[in-house]
Amino acid sequence: MPDFDTSVPHIARVYDYWLGGKDNFAADRELGEKTLAAYPNLVFSVRANRAFLARAVRFLAAEAGIRQFLDIGTGIPTANNTHQVAQRIAPQSRIVYVDNDPIVLSHAQALLKSAPQGACAYLDADLRDPDMVLAAAADTLDFGLPVAVMLMAVMHFVGDDDEAAAIIRTLTAACAPGSFVTISHVASDIDTEQQTELVRRLNQSVAEKATMRDRAGVTRLFDGLELVEPGVVRVSEWRPDSDLEAASPTGLWGGVARKV
Ligand SMILES: C[S@@+](CC[C@H](N)C(=O)[O-])C[C@H]1O[C@@H](n2cnc3c(N)ncnc32)[C@H](O)[C@@H]1O
Repeated sequence: MPDFDTSVPHIARVYDYWLGGKDNFAADRELGEKTLAAYPNLVFSVRANRAFLARAVRFLAAEAGIRQFLDIGTGIPTANNTHQVAQRIAPQSRIVYVDNDPIVLSHAQALLKSAPQGACAYLDADLRDPDMVLAAAADTLDFGLPVAVMLMAVMHFVGDDDEAAAIIRTLTAACAPGSFVTISHVASDIDTEQQTELVRRLNQSVAEKATMRDRAGVTRLFDGLELVEPGVVRVSEWRPDSDLEAASPTGLWGGVARKV
């Protein structure tokens, strides 16, 4: 069992609490409530993020023909994890999950229940060392074929713009043409006042500090790639399945782009 301190809130467990999960402790629930008080739409916002993840993976597997996924900043397993959505469409899909949080590692078994035709792997690794991530992921993924890099609600933990851009450049440089990058990111220009307070309360207590970016800043993370329609939008507005889904409040920008 990995070693982790349950008396200190952790972002993966607080996020689990916002999503209505059970893998959290008193300190996480306390911060969860404190942040929800700052931004009451947060529950809808994180659900909209998970729904975006599922629609993006469905698009990538069903429409773009992607069979390999590198999901960095995976989080504690919940409903519709990347491999479940992808393998429902293409059971031969291969998925590598990456997170640097020991509690996510402790749940890795749930992420490794691959369809027999495909493969799932878990890496206990840091996004800030993309070369190491790529080297280890190459045991499972063939970088000579297209890969979808999923960076869901994780790039806001890399506050420095140059570092964030360099990480994404390194990841995409290793991927074959026809690969994709999906990003969702907390927005500084949606519900600004409430989200600023939310992030302030979060950053007071968790080790991984979040930095909000505006729509232009999130769009710049896709530099050198070709955004697919509808571009960088509120995550609930990215190819929604219904008007109801599109109308969900969310404080996150999201988009999907192709390496040409
Ligand atoms: C807000 S959760 C998002 C979970 C999932 N991707 C989603 O969108 O539903 C962010 C996750 O990123 C992980 N994370 C944060 N910084 C990271 C880093 N530098 N390297 C790897 N994982 C990181 C956290 O441990 C956490 O599990």
